[in-house]
Amino acid sequence: MNIPQIKTRFQPLSDMLHQGYVPNVINTAMELGLFDALAEGAMDAHSLAAKLGTIENITETFANTLVALKLLEKSGDDYSLAPMAAEFLVKSSPAYQGGMIAMGLNFGQVMSQMSQILKSGPARSPEAEADMWLNIEVMKGMGLGVMGGSIQEVTEFITSLPEFPNLKRMCDLAGSHGFYTMALLDKNPMLQGTICDQPKVAEVAKDIVAEMGYADRIDTISADLETNDPIGDGYDLVFASHILYIWKGHLEDIFEKINKAMVPGGVFVSNHLSMAGDECGPVSEMIVELMTQLGGYLTHHLSEGELRKALEASGFGDFTVRPAEEGRQYRSLILAARKLR
Ligand SMILES: C[S@@+](CC[C@H](N)C(=O)[O-])C[C@H]1O[C@@H](n2cnc3c(N)ncnc32)[C@H](O)[C@@H]1O
Repeated sequence: MNIPQIKTRFQPLSDMLHQGYVPNVINTAMELGLFDALAEGAMDAHSLAAKLGTIENITETFANTLVALKLLEKSGDDYSLAPMAAEFLVKSSPAYQGGMIAMGLNFGQVMSQMSQILKSGPARSPEAEADMWLNIEVMKGMGLGVMGGSIQEVTEFITSLPEFPNLKRMCDLAGSHGFYTMALLDKNPMLQGTICDQPKVAEVAKDIVAEMGYADRIDTISADLETNDPIGDGYDLVFASHILYIWKGHLEDIFEKINKAMVPGGVFVSNHLSMAGDECGPVSEMIVELMTQLGGYLTHHLSEGELRKALEASGFGDFTVRPAEEGRQYRSLILAARKLR
């Protein structure tokens, strides 16, 4: 027998393959209500199995797997929630990420058709895409999703801008749930907001705004941003979050439209995923980008360089930048640019 002489190690590859089952484990725990059960108090595998209606010995291994994933902690025989699970995986938590996790899994369906799409290209359905954002539960889920760090980062960034105390009118471009606008209005009692989104989404946004108690300070505009639909004017802040990807390669088209809607000296803020210069990592960003392109979209990342170049060509400058960093909810680059002409 010819035993090969091994030059590298198999274990890193084996680890990657096993990690592919982690979403299954997390989802199953959420489906069974395991995190919600442990939010009521620590318990051992026997009590946990009784509570979930599962088989005790497999439940113990299941819970130990969640300990290995640092989602649970174990003390003696008792399991309790680790901080990450308590904050993001318990339904009653204000930063519950269940809606976003379900959405991510839905997008992930393209991953099972990867080989076919790589060969024949993606199939896009504009009608299905328009409807994808429309569901009130999806919109609220996205709103709750940004509570996991993004809304805190964006609010801190915008409220630190020197212009913030004097802002009077803002537009949340493709604002959907409008939670970013609501957070900013809470910090500045003089500020009024407009949520601009595609027609059916804007209608639902109006209901969410009323339900959240902001109807007297936030209005909505129905506009397809890829057409000449008006987006309003006289804004001293325009905020665009996770929408500009559509215009990759011709960002000037949307920036010129934004410029016209703003007062001189107004500030534009972009919140978008941004990848390392070589476009080869980190891994989770690469997976998001791959999934995005397999789904038929252009990109899910915009670099600081391309944003700056297109903004400068469209009459903006005097940038304030918070670079995309590890450790934040998403690797978003937050960038402010002033209207200079
Ligand atoms: C990923 S969501 C972002 C929502 C929100 N800005 C945020 O960051 O949480 C994309 C939003 O863009 C809107 N959108 C997509 N294409 C659009 C278009 N052509 N015109 C107007 N809105 C559009 C969708 O309806 C959806 O609300």
